[in-house]
Amino acid sequence: QSSVLHKFKGILFSTMSSEELLNSLDFFNAREDDVFLVSYPKSGTHWIAEVIGNIPNAQISLTSPIELGDISKFDELKMNCKRRVIPTHLSYNMLPVNIKQKQCKIIYIIRNPKDTAVSLFHYYRDNPNLPGIETWAAFFELFLRGDVVYGSWFDHVLSWEEHKNDKNILIIFYEEMKRDLSKSIKKITTFLGINVSDSEISKIAGKTSFSEMKNNAAKENCDPNHTICALTSNRNLVFRKGAVGDWINYFTAKQRRIFDELFTEKMKHSELARHFED
Ligand code: PPS
Repeated sequence: QSSVLHKFKGILFSTMSSEELLNSLDFFNAREDDVFLVSYPKSGTHWIAEVIGNIPNAQISLTSPIELGDISKFDELKMNCKRRVIPTHLSYNMLPVNIKQKQCKIIYIIRNPKDTAVSLFHYYRDNPNLPGIETWAAFFELFLRGDVVYGSWFDHVLSWEEHKNDKNILIIFYEEMKRDLSKSIKKITTFLGINVSDSEISKIAGKTSFSEMKNNAAKENCDPNHTICALTSNRNLVFRKGAVGDWINYFTAKQRRIFDELFTEKMKHSELARHFED
């Protein structure tokens, strides 16, 4: 693995998430009204952030990821007086203990692992902050072993699955958002306790379509150096294809079989896995 990644507690992180910061996560001071936006990379984090950012009168402030920067960032976050929406790609086990004690609201977004793998493959290729990768075949092996940034998709999702019934946690599926965005927006606003009319929901849906978000990322009035992913600040790297099922263009029949076998084995007790039967 390239030097742009390092291992912490057995999981690969970007060197932008320093060991010092990762070690000090439990000193993070959560507020009861904080909202955490959590995902395995490439699962639709920016999409949900855009939905939340477009809720009228939400009075929120979207911060940078919790695992990015240095510890002094925790003090900066303290100064923020609006309701904080804090993104992170951490697994449940690594989430600062304070967030769990205070029962902060958490939205966890999940995406079909095959599409997630393909999206992460492109991110590895395009993002200079990730190791270079020659071929899909090579990346597939790394993804299968969980030898990629933020570790195994399976471990990540299973760490959150254990808490899927906690009342402060809302689980949203990328595919569900693709199918019926307005319904997902309603779920999110209800969970956050914000009243939004049906016509406002339609407006939010319009502003958060893939084409709208991709076009906006390229526009001058949108800060091109702002993402909520700890792995890049370049917004243009985030919006690629925005589709369900793109994996079919990458997985060979053999890779599909190998992946499905591993999926069945790892996810045998998982209820969330039912969403991905294909
Ligand atoms: S990151 O960088 O890890 O935080 O990425 P994340 O935002 O979690 O996921 C990026 C993928 O989500 C797609 N995306 C969308 N799909 C559909 N509709 C909308 N509005 C949307 N916004 C972002 C984005 O294109 C990435 O997926 P791929 O498959 O690579 O296109």
